[in-house]
Amino acid sequence: MSKKAIIIGASSGIGAELARQLSCLGYELGLVARRTQLLKDLQKTLSTKSLIKTIDVRLVDDAKKQLQELISEMQQVDLIIVNSGIWIANPDLDLDFEIETIKVNVLGFVSMINVAVKYFISIGSGHIVGISSIAGLRGSGRSPSYNASKAFVSIYMAGLRQKLSTNNIVVTDIRPGLVDTPMVKGRKNNFWLQPVEKAVHQIISAINNKRKVVYVTKRWGLIAFLSKLLPEALYNYIYNKQISKSLKR
Ligand SMILES: NC(=O)c1ccc[n+]([C@@H]2O[C@H](COP(=O)([O-])OP(=O)(O)OC[C@H]3O[C@@H](n4cnc5c(N)ncnc54)[C@H](OP(=O)(O)O)[C@@H]3O)[C@@H](O)[C@H]2O)c1
Repeated sequence: MSKKAIIIGASSGIGAELARQLSCLGYELGLVARRTQLLKDLQKTLSTKSLIKTIDVRLVDDAKKQLQELISEMQQVDLIIVNSGIWIANPDLDLDFEIETIKVNVLGFVSMINVAVKYFISIGSGHIVGISSIAGLRGSGRSPSYNASKAFVSIYMAGLRQKLSTNNIVVTDIRPGLVDTPMVKGRKNNFWLQPVEKAVHQIISAINNKRKVVYVTKRWGLIAFLSKLLPEALYNYIYNKQISKSLKR
C-alpha cells in the first residue's frame, strides 16, 4: 500500500516542491493552503493521487475541522508536514504585521500540529514534521516576530518529542537557512540562497531517516553552529553590517 502524506502550505515554495518530490516517491497526498487554484495547478503535475483542501490556518476552529475532514477522506495518513508560514520585513515594528506573523506561524502551527498529534495517537503511530527556521536561533531587528515564532515552533516540537517518545510517533524539526522561494523574492541580503529542490531533497532524506532536528541545506548547519557560539554583541554587529551592506546594493 502506498504511503500517504498531508502538506499544509503546499501552494508554493518548499511545500509545492515537497509535494512534487513525495509524489515521485509514490506518496498519495493531501494538499492544503488558501490559494486553491495554485493547489489545482500543482495537482495536475503530480503522478500520484491527491486531494485538495482550502484551509486558512489562522481560522483555528475551521482549520481544525477541515484538516480532520481531510484525514478521514484520505482514510489513513502516515506523515503530516506543517510548512505554512509567513515572513514580513517589519523594521518599524508595525503591530498588525507582528500579530499576523504570530497568527500564522504560532497559532496556525499549533492548531494544525494538535490535530496531527491527536490523530497519530489515535492510530498508534505516525510522523509529524514542522518547518521551523535557522532564524529561530537568534533575534532579528528586521523581523522580531518571525524569529521568535520559529523559536516557538522548534521548542514546541522538542516538547512534543518528549511527550510522544513512547507513542511510536516521530517528530522532525526542519530548520532551513535561506531557500529560493517566493517568500524571499525581492528581499535584500539573500546570503547563501539555496535551490528549493536541493533543500527539499534534504528534508525528505531527514524524514526517511526519522531525524529529530535538521538544518537544510547542510551548509546552513555550519552557520547555525557558529551563530549559537557568538556572543550577542558580536552577533548583532555582524548582522547589522550584513544588512547595511545589502541595503547599499
Ligand atoms: N524560504 C526560506 O528561505 C525559508 C527559510 C527558513 C524557513 N522557511 C519556512 O519554510 C516554510 C515555507 O516557506 P516558503 O519559503 O516555501 O514560502 P512560500 O513560498 O511563501 O510558502 C508559504 C506557504 O505557506 C502557506 N500559508 C501562508 N499563510 C497561510 C495561511 N494563513 N493558511 C494556510 N497556509 C498558509 C502558503 O499558502 P497560501 O498563501 O496559498 O495560503 C504557502 O503554501 C515557512 O514556514 C517558512 O517560514 C523558509
